[in-house]
Amino acid sequence: MLVLGIESSCDETGVALYDTEHGLLAHQLHTQIAMHAEYGGVVPELASRDHIRRLTPLTQACLHQAGKTFADIDAIAYTQGPGLGGALLAGASFANALAFALNKPIIPVHHLEGHMLSPLLSDDKPDFPFVALLVSGGHTQFMAVKGIGDYTLLGESIDDAAGEAFDKTAKLLGLPYPGGAKLSELARLGHSSSLHFPRPMLHSHDLNMSFSGLKTAVLTAVNKIKAETGCGEALPEQIRHDICREFQNAVVDVLTSKAKQALQQTGYKQLVVAGGVGANWQLRQSLSSLPGVHTFFPPLAYCTDNGAMIAFAGAMHLSSARPTGSFNVRPRWPLS
Ligand code: KG4
Ligand code: ZN
Repeated sequence: MLVLGIESSCDETGVALYDTEHGLLAHQLHTQIAMHAEYGGVVPELASRDHIRRLTPLTQACLHQAGKTFADIDAIAYTQGPGLGGALLAGASFANALAFALNKPIIPVHHLEGHMLSPLLSDDKPDFPFVALLVSGGHTQFMAVKGIGDYTLLGESIDDAAGEAFDKTAKLLGLPYPGGAKLSELARLGHSSSLHFPRPMLHSHDLNMSFSGLKTAVLTAVNKIKAETGCGEALPEQIRHDICREFQNAVVDVLTSKAKQALQQTGYKQLVVAGGVGANWQLRQSLSSLPGVHTFFPPLAYCTDNGAMIAFAGAMHLSSARPTGSFNVRPRWPLS
């Protein structure tokens, strides 16, 4: 069975074709980062309009890449939520219109389930059960995953998501949007210094986390350094790198400690890391070296938003494919 997957929950338009026999055949992605950069963040109206512009050519390119035609598609999966309402509607309308025209069934997919199952797209993939750490711009959650559709929330951030903390901290350090990945690159140049940021809720005895205070701690440190050095708006370069490093150390320490706790609590030996922050080099290093644990990361290309994970999750839910009719999107939608 050939499943077309459509992702449009935020600022990436992703289209992919997944074959239940031969695996991923093609995927196409357009990122709107450059378009939103001048506004310092995602502008929802612009995001929706751009998804509408891109969906048809990306789908055509995907079919071409796979050597397939519209007639070969057996079902169409699309991201139903969570995400930006208008952006989701662009993808949902396209997917449902195409399903209607081709007389094929439709499969609404949860965006986070897509992320969580994306490591199953690699050759080295986990077996059920596993603990999933979902770390994106909107969510930071630990899930116990017993099988497809069998997910239990173990704990989550009670305020900012880890990716959001990366982006907000990057912004206050004057880094261009989107700052998370850039901050993480500058952290490579940072040294351990006298700076110390808090590890919020590290000892909370549950699997909840908090990242908003960390961003405030960075702001306080930046203001203090500026006042002491009289450097004006521009922080000395090495100090900025050191701040990036200590910020990243703090986030990675919390996520690593909570991951250990989640594995102990469930007794599972496999950890799956998914979502944009899963691309972070230090997090990868730290979670890969947990003793007695096999840690899986999606291939880097499928860490951030993409159509492949939606096509794959759709293929896992083929039994729930249904004819298209009236449809909706779910901008706020808990996975468990
Ligand atoms: O999963 P994703 O593409 O979109 C959401 O569903 O949110 O994740 C995007 C988030 C952003 O906050 C971005 O700053 C963060 O992932 N991110 C990173 C890195 N690459 C992307 N954060 C830390 N280090 C990175 N290398
Ligand atoms: Zn995402």
